[in-house]
Amino acid sequence: MGAQQLLTQQGNLYKQQKGLTLKERTTDFKQWVDQRREAGVWSYNRVLDSAVSESTHVITDSGASKPMMNLATQDNLGMIRRHELQDAATDAMHSHGIHTGCSASLAGTNSITSEIERKLVKVTGCDEAILFNTGWAACYGAIRGLVTQDDHLVLDVLSHNCLQEASQLSTSKRYTFMHNDMSHLEQRLSRIRNADQSNAVFIITEGLFSMHGDSPDPYRLVELAKKYNAILILDLSHDFGSEGEKGLGLLEYIPKDFYESLVVVGSFSKTFASVGGFVLGPEGVRDRLVCFSPTYMFSLAMTPMSSGIINKSMDLVFSDEGLKLRKKLKQNINFARTCLKAQGIDIIGHKGPVVPVMIGDQQIARIATKELFESGILVNLIEFPAVPLEHSMFRLQISAAFSFSFILDFAKKLGRALDEARSAITVVTKNEPQSDLLLTQ
Ligand SMILES: Cc1ncc(COP(=O)(O)O)c(C=O)c1O
Repeated sequence: MGAQQLLTQQGNLYKQQKGLTLKERTTDFKQWVDQRREAGVWSYNRVLDSAVSESTHVITDSGASKPMMNLATQDNLGMIRRHELQDAATDAMHSHGIHTGCSASLAGTNSITSEIERKLVKVTGCDEAILFNTGWAACYGAIRGLVTQDDHLVLDVLSHNCLQEASQLSTSKRYTFMHNDMSHLEQRLSRIRNADQSNAVFIITEGLFSMHGDSPDPYRLVELAKKYNAILILDLSHDFGSEGEKGLGLLEYIPKDFYESLVVVGSFSKTFASVGGFVLGPEGVRDRLVCFSPTYMFSLAMTPMSSGIINKSMDLVFSDEGLKLRKKLKQNINFARTCLKAQGIDIIGHKGPVVPVMIGDQQIARIATKELFESGILVNLIEFPAVPLEHSMFRLQISAAFSFSFILDFAKKLGRALDEARSAITVVTKNEPQSDLLLTQ
């Protein structure tokens, strides 16, 4: 394949792999990635060179360590740099060592993880909690442990990858409903229940969709689940701890009398400055997952340092201070949305610490990412295969730790980078043949 031909290839052509050997199966894609690297428009696998905060050092292509404004880190309430959490990690390491050395199903559970589970039960009012080593593992493990092949499953079409993958493997009676569309969900449920009254139906959705900055209607969800005798699995990865008066996200709107049909899943990676995940549910769910959740049984328990951080951050998040931080986060999100709109930037959704900037065109998105990197701003470019082709976007992570001047500054720089990327594309389209850089897509 000629170099020019490679440059014009779309990434999706490489999704399928053909060939008998690993070399045959990886070479074309590697060449395409290398050409993007050379053109400076490969933004995966950035290497950071300092602790993450709103200002973070990143290693450049030339190997230098460059200070950058950081809009790429999930730290909703600004917990990452807190000394109490660093001390909690050290204390946990001293009391419980550096490694759990075993699956949590067997001997990997310790007194810190048990304490976190008790705290989760206390703040949410659910009967039981169980911790996983990541949020992905918790969401995937809950579905794989609870849904079996006779069951029906209806999930929001934009649900996170861990929910989709688990659903695909759990049952062939799997349907999607249009994003947050409760009428469409009802159509699905009514059809299923008309045909089958004896098997379980699971509804799967999220409390806050990060890529779209929106939520389903909690009252309709519960009403429909009750009407059609369905079980709801709700992923609170993005809103637990950072949304709502009590910090419980969408759970604040779910009545307690529905808890017997509710399973909550979530992550500690966005608000609690650690890695880990959890599942909450009525009595019986925990024991079931201990034995039937593959990511619980066949994967190592979270490290003592992670659990020490989560344990302490739970205290902070669900305290008066946590409430203040949630208010500050909300102010920052609103201010960021106002500043970005003032720059003519297309943002979607209306809530949540992830502000999705829609770009669409992959070339513009890649060139804007390069411009931003050069002007000292780190953003996450989301492109195919994470989103469909021509739906490229930036996923800006807003934190309670940001100041208004920081937000104003990056909004202006983002506006400028997007303008420059768009005019670069216009110039090229006028002056064929195109340059290598712009053809790299
Ligand atoms: C909705 C949702 N669920 C689950 C996860 C996985 O969480 P973790 O990063 O803790 O594995 C994510 C992560 O982005 C997410 O957005």
